[in-house]
Amino acid sequence: MRHWVLITGCSTGIGRALVPLCREAGWGVVATGRNLTDLADLPTGEDLRLLPMDVTDAGSIAAAVEACGDLRLKALVNNAGYAQVGPLELIRPEELRAQFETNVIGLHLVTIAFLPLLRREPGARIVQVASMLGRLSIPLAGPYNASKHAAVALAETLRLEVGREVFVVLVESGAVQSEFRATMTKVWGDLPERARGTRYERILMKYLGVRKRQGQRHAMSAEACARKILRALIADRPPRRVVIGKDAFWAGRLKAILPAAWWERLMRRLYGLT
Ligand SMILES: NC(=O)c1ccc[n+]([C@@H]2O[C@H](COP(=O)([O-])OP(=O)(O)OC[C@H]3O[C@@H](n4cnc5c(N)ncnc54)[C@H](OP(=O)(O)O)[C@@H]3O)[C@@H](O)[C@H]2O)c1
Repeated sequence: MRHWVLITGCSTGIGRALVPLCREAGWGVVATGRNLTDLADLPTGEDLRLLPMDVTDAGSIAAAVEACGDLRLKALVNNAGYAQVGPLELIRPEELRAQFETNVIGLHLVTIAFLPLLRREPGARIVQVASMLGRLSIPLAGPYNASKHAAVALAETLRLEVGREVFVVLVESGAVQSEFRATMTKVWGDLPERARGTRYERILMKYLGVRKRQGQRHAMSAEACARKILRALIADRPPRRVVIGKDAFWAGRLKAILPAAWWERLMRRLYGLT
């Protein structure tokens, strides 16, 4: 009987790229998404199960657990997430809450819901897709930075608590080509209007330019990122941390060695806050 992995957020990007890679590696995949229609083009097979799951909806998570009861579920990839960006001074409490509902509470709900199923399989593993922004903060992405720092803390705590029964793997990626940046400007709603006439108006435009340039120059393909996640996912002894991308590697190094004032100057200059 094959082993199965459940992946959240398979409609696009990294989650979507992981599905065929895991299947090629011989795993069965439970691909989940908010809308099943977004998953309908995945080639069918005995090694694929499609389930609706919104990570902010406890009912859909419970139904998914129920639907996986007959599987040898050996891995869970908490991938679903998005970025709420904008200057903190302009961020509404409901935007910050919504960011945490998906990236933090959602990840936690899925994790604890599937732990009992995972525990049945020796060597089971949970992969938490955080970000390089779970270790360092960039300006104008406060809600996202905070949510990914929280995801890192939850994973490190979980590892201390269940790490001898279930491996806990943290994925800390740099920029990846996906729907991520398009979603970012969709969810910020009327932020550009809120910024109009404030010191943030020009800064926000510059920020978009920097993110776009980073996306074009440095971002790796979702498939390349998914391949690195797969390697950790199927390893006999999965690593604790997977840092993906030169940007993630070098930003982490620089932050560690630069005096704080220099790091802050660099960030402010890069994002037009000087
Ligand atoms: N792209 C990057 O540069 C980058 C870098 C580091 C880390 N990451 C992380 O990688 C993960 C995947 O992002 P991506 O780059 O592949 O972006 P993406 O293409 O936008 O994919 C995000 C996925 O998350 C799903 N999602 C969002 N909210 C959800 C919810 N409440 N319930 C269930 N699914 C939900 C989306 O579904 P819908 O289609 O229904 O919205 C989509 O399938 C995220 O956790 C992100 O923070 C991305």
